[in-house]
Amino acid sequence: MNTPIYDFVKAYAEKNGVRGHMPGHKGAVGKDVISAVYPYDITEIGGADALFEAEGIIAESERNCAKLFGAYSTAYSAGGSTLCIEAMLAAVCRSGDKVVAARNSHKAFLNSCILLGLEPEWVYPEFEKGSVIAGKITPKAIEDGIKRAGNPACVYITSPDYLGNIADVKGIAEVCGRYGIPLLVDNAHGAHLAFLEENIHPIKLGAAMCCDSAHKTLPVLTGGAYLHTADEKYVGKIKGAMSLFGSSSPSYLIMQSLDLCNRYLAEEFPDDLKNTVKKVTELKNKLGQVWTVCNSEPLKLSLYTLNCGRTGYEVSEYLRSREIEAEYADGTHVMLMFSPFNKDTDYDRIYDALSSMPMPRIRLEPPCFKLVPLKRAMLPREAWFAESETVSVDECEGRICSKARTVCPPCVPVAVGGEIFDKESIKILKMYSISEVNVVK
Ligand SMILES: Cc1ncc(COP(=O)(O)O)c(C=O)c1O
Repeated sequence: MNTPIYDFVKAYAEKNGVRGHMPGHKGAVGKDVISAVYPYDITEIGGADALFEAEGIIAESERNCAKLFGAYSTAYSAGGSTLCIEAMLAAVCRSGDKVVAARNSHKAFLNSCILLGLEPEWVYPEFEKGSVIAGKITPKAIEDGIKRAGNPACVYITSPDYLGNIADVKGIAEVCGRYGIPLLVDNAHGAHLAFLEENIHPIKLGAAMCCDSAHKTLPVLTGGAYLHTADEKYVGKIKGAMSLFGSSSPSYLIMQSLDLCNRYLAEEFPDDLKNTVKKVTELKNKLGQVWTVCNSEPLKLSLYTLNCGRTGYEVSEYLRSREIEAEYADGTHVMLMFSPFNKDTDYDRIYDALSSMPMPRIRLEPPCFKLVPLKRAMLPREAWFAESETVSVDECEGRICSKARTVCPPCVPVAVGGEIFDKESIKILKMYSISEVNVVK
């Protein structure tokens, strides 16, 4: 597969011409390691195309990408899935619209509601034992949400979630189809799903649009993401919607890494992925003899740690002491992510560390609270722009959340703007060590 963006920039860098244009580093190579990439960091010079008005090399690379994912069209983002989420919603909604959304959505969704003036109609997942971030959303729950909302502009779900749970995207897409409502999927953690032996990417399963953080699971620089659309309907709106929120100076380094990734996806990736899935599965099976391994998509290893008498934080600290950095930990879980670029020895090191971790014989009880519907006093946008003040969590019961606090990861707000804090939500805030919140005055 050709790589038009990378080829163009490489040829330009090799010409060693006079750079009478941005960026200010002028492609100079200094002494620091990262300056080796400066010659390839360019701006929209003649022939380099422009991300939000793409007609040349960027459009060609995006078409290559769409073909690989089986999408009608793909738009690149150098602003992560965050920009794609804002753009998908802007493309299908009008200010004031209702959106049926899973409550375990990333903060990027909530921020989009604030920016666009949308009203979320929350659907609560059946949360994993002890988890306030991960859980299953069923087609039935979505259908109930659609009925409650009346005439929502779209349905918005996250799959896979942070711990790797995959929703029944096909079933949910069928429900949306019956009501004539587009399904938008936050597939930030699932770009690789299109290349498994069985393609379970949301576009294949009936989503109208989805975002993939290519940088999370594919060899792409941080910030590189895709916005895929399944058919022609919204394509005309996508680039304009992206330029509403994105920088007018998107990184050409990120775009080149997206471009080069196409070639890798077309050639080695399916086999590499198959081998990686095998290695992760073997590791899960071995660890499963002692640890409680959660069901998850194949590149994630999520452990429910309380059965081994440890919190997720403790396991993560222990792994860190062995020079192993996990992606995520909380009171009940620890999660690690894999890709074909992990070394074979990584699997051995993780197994050795986890199988030799000292374990108390006691099983810890999971916290018995979870995200439950809170009373809403105003919309997220009104709450964000209202006069607000910061108070201790001990004083926030009965107050209206203004600017939602999250811990990142997982960036799932405990109370969203406009909701009234209750005793349960305060317990969860404390569990996440959040001591202050912003409330409407
Ligand atoms: C579920 C989910 N959605 C969206 C995002 C935002 O993605 P990005 O960092 O690519 O902007 C994240 C980031 O961690 C995420 O976990």
